[in-house]
Amino acid sequence: MSKKIVFSGIQPSGVPALGNYIGAMLNFKALQDEYNCLYCVVDLHAITVRRAPELFGDHVRRLFALYIAAGLDPEKNTIFVQSHVPEHSQLAWLLNCYTYVGELGRMTQFKDKSRKNEDNINAGLYTYPVLMAADVLLYGAHLVPIGDDQKQHMELCRDIAIRFNKIYGDVLVVPEIMIPKIGARIMKLQDPLHKMDKSESENLNNSIFLLDEPDIVMAKMKKAVTDSDALVKYDTENKPGVSNLLTIYSRLTKISIQDAEREFEGKNYGFFKNAVGEAVVETLRPIQDEYKRLRADDAALDVLMKKGAEKARAIAAKVMDETSKAIGFI
Ligand code: TYM
Repeated sequence: MSKKIVFSGIQPSGVPALGNYIGAMLNFKALQDEYNCLYCVVDLHAITVRRAPELFGDHVRRLFALYIAAGLDPEKNTIFVQSHVPEHSQLAWLLNCYTYVGELGRMTQFKDKSRKNEDNINAGLYTYPVLMAADVLLYGAHLVPIGDDQKQHMELCRDIAIRFNKIYGDVLVVPEIMIPKIGARIMKLQDPLHKMDKSESENLNNSIFLLDEPDIVMAKMKKAVTDSDALVKYDTENKPGVSNLLTIYSRLTKISIQDAEREFEGKNYGFFKNAVGEAVVETLRPIQDEYKRLRADDAALDVLMKKGAEKARAIAAKVMDETSKAIGFI
């Protein structure tokens, strides 16, 4: 029997942060043997916010290289750039006609992002979830690994697919959503009530980026907010800062939260934060080494990118064709 299909994507909108790594990339890696996985640099999604043209290409290459550096094998997986497969935009248009404005208006990310970009509330920001649905449905993906913040978008994707199938028969695969039990929402280090973001610009100490040098990581960790209890215990309601650090530590060292709590029993927060910092540094070291190696030869990287797009397009063209035929296009 052929392997089931996995699809997921990350926006090239900054250096990926530890939240992206723990919430999404760790699962990407875990799935690569058992599934036929497609991992996408979703550059079309990134232009809902203005980008400097001279930097954009570098950010796309950077994320592409980081996928590989973080442990995704480009032979085993299909790693590619969204704009290299034009079917994404094509299917998104069709799906726009099966999505209601009321549904899009309810999306919390649209509301948040419109608040933050008051001078540029473009239509792309509004129809963004439809493009996301197209990304996934274009490959007949069975499973989509994401962090908690993308859940509402993926539920809409399922609703669109179910609606389409009700009209035309079983054309689209309705995907399952995969969200990690621990680490689906890594919080800002200095504001643990809000999620860590790769586009953080206000306070860089809130996010750890995958390309941060070890001394930067340790300094950011040192400044992470805890509380005044001096007790390393998992309690998201009363101890959000400590719980966030415990989550990071547990996911990176692969030990349970309970074992981590035991490990830090009787230890002060300075010791605890230092240990979490070291776990992050040790995780990032091999990723950064591999990243540097890959970026020393962008031409070779571009060959991999082209191969990825060709592999992706072979599947996308077929689904696009079936979907168009179902609607009745001649
Ligand atoms: P993006 O680029 O914002 O984030 C990429 C992935 O990282 C997860 N994530 C987090 N997980 C835990 N803690 C956090 N603080 C954190 N921040 C981000 C996100 O949930 C996501 O899984 N629209 C998507 C990209 C996308 C996509 C898709 C995803 C486009 N098409 C199709 C899945 C399927 C986005 O902006 O993710």
